[in-house]
Amino acid sequence: MNSKSTSKSGQSVHNCVKTIQALNTRLGQPPNLAKRAKRWQFNAAGLALDMRRSAISDESLSEVLSLAKDRQIAQKIAGLIAGEPVNNTEQRAAHHSALRAIFDDSLSVSALEARGVFQRVCELANRIRQQLWHGFSGKPIRDVVNIGIGGSDLGPRLVCAALDDGAAQNSNAPAVHFAANIDPVELNRILRNCQPETTLFIVASKSFSTQETLENAKAARRWLLNSMQKADLAKHLVSISSNVEKATRFGIAAENIFPMWDWVGGRYSLWSAIGLPIAIAHGAEAFEALLRGAHAMDTHFASAPLEENLPVLLAALDFIHINALGAASVAVLPYAHQLALLPDYLQQLCMESNGKGVDRQGNRIDFATGPVVWGSAGTVGQHSFHQLLHQGSEAIPIDFILPLQAPHNAAHAEDARHRQLVANCLAQSKAFAEGKSVATAKQELLGGGASEAEASRLAPHKASPGQRSNIIIAMDSLNAGTLGALLALYEHRVYVQSILWDINAFDQWGVELGKQLGGPIDAALADNNTSPGSDEITNSWIKKYQSLNAK
Ligand code: F6P
Repeated sequence: MNSKSTSKSGQSVHNCVKTIQALNTRLGQPPNLAKRAKRWQFNAAGLALDMRRSAISDESLSEVLSLAKDRQIAQKIAGLIAGEPVNNTEQRAAHHSALRAIFDDSLSVSALEARGVFQRVCELANRIRQQLWHGFSGKPIRDVVNIGIGGSDLGPRLVCAALDDGAAQNSNAPAVHFAANIDPVELNRILRNCQPETTLFIVASKSFSTQETLENAKAARRWLLNSMQKADLAKHLVSISSNVEKATRFGIAAENIFPMWDWVGGRYSLWSAIGLPIAIAHGAEAFEALLRGAHAMDTHFASAPLEENLPVLLAALDFIHINALGAASVAVLPYAHQLALLPDYLQQLCMESNGKGVDRQGNRIDFATGPVVWGSAGTVGQHSFHQLLHQGSEAIPIDFILPLQAPHNAAHAEDARHRQLVANCLAQSKAFAEGKSVATAKQELLGGGASEAEASRLAPHKASPGQRSNIIIAMDSLNAGTLGALLALYEHRVYVQSILWDINAFDQWGVELGKQLGGPIDAALADNNTSPGSDEITNSWIKKYQSLNAK
């Protein structure tokens, strides 16, 4: 690795940051967020983006766009969509957009391959939903368990939950479960309510070499073999993998393996056969609508002018937050319980993509890159961490996600809960931007009958500084189409961030070290007679483990 502290690409980030900071000092830092009614609203692919209460300004946007143009953003967007090898450390494309371009008239080679697999996925899902796929005893499948982790889990897990609005479900559709953790408790909790004869496992692993997935798959196979012959396994195991050879060696019938490709990254793969659980739980039409929604966002991303391009605008805002205003984390607050898993999903998408410390050439960089992404469903967080968001010492930028229509029409006329959910979201956005001054707090206290002394004492505690930059991403209703567009929006936002920072968003070398070290430690834990390695801290825990788990 080149050890230069400030590379050429780093220098342009610093210059841009300096200019924005100088602008902010002149305009107020960030520009007054409470009174910007006219501009900063955009629409695309069924989503409405409201940036009126965000730290963006015409001047700062123009600075970030000039950095983006220096980085040849237009060519880079086109390269991504065309399937060029944008992942330069692995010489691979990141062609997830091809997975949702499969309904177009003229198809790229990747999209053509993807279309064939999509059709197979839908056929299998339909067979299962119509109770035409039978287990070894002749009974239809009642439970489907997806075994996978990271990108082979988080996407389909999120979408399956996001499309479940709590209304009555198709009684023929099986229950779909997800097991990711190597901790046996997760899979055991699922299997205690399942019967082997009516359970189908999906072993989802692009590499088919991920420890957690392989160990859980072995546990599932043991569980099945307690009740059936080896020859019956084909009725209970399917796999999604780019490593067909390994999946076959594991014992999965060749016709039950759905391929993946090197040109799709794990965290960008929910649009591939990895989405099988979505088609099983919600139907092939829902899976298709999801892909079409994402494709609509791809089309917008590839064609809209930079000044109106949603992923570009959001990445520019991120740059302003992270690099010019020093934000170290971003909160994502979906005001829709169906999207409660969105922050978990975004953690992998954003942090595995842009949690990087070197630029594309390997130069160490000396500016901030991917922030910590966190959050939870509103209104639950209001009774927990919102205190810090309102009055804490750090101003944390916030993304609100807001579907406006109540999830289903069956709600009772007296049921005000969804309306109140929306009211809470709008109130939080306003409160974060406008805050409450000490003088107003004092007036309120006096108006409530407090003495002058009491009002002066309490007012600073009751005041909120405001000026918390926040955006609302709204949609008329949360459905497969708008969800697809939302997820594609975040994918492309992450890509544009990486262009601004000149980093590779599509590798994840950092996760390897822990995996490398885990092997010898596991071997030492397993073997009571093996003297563990030379590291005293690890050794002390190995010995403790061995004493507590002696056989
Ligand atoms: O270890 C990280 C990672 O490689 C992710 O990038 C990926 O989504 C996950 O593991 C699972 O990988 P696989 O699908 O190959 O099992």
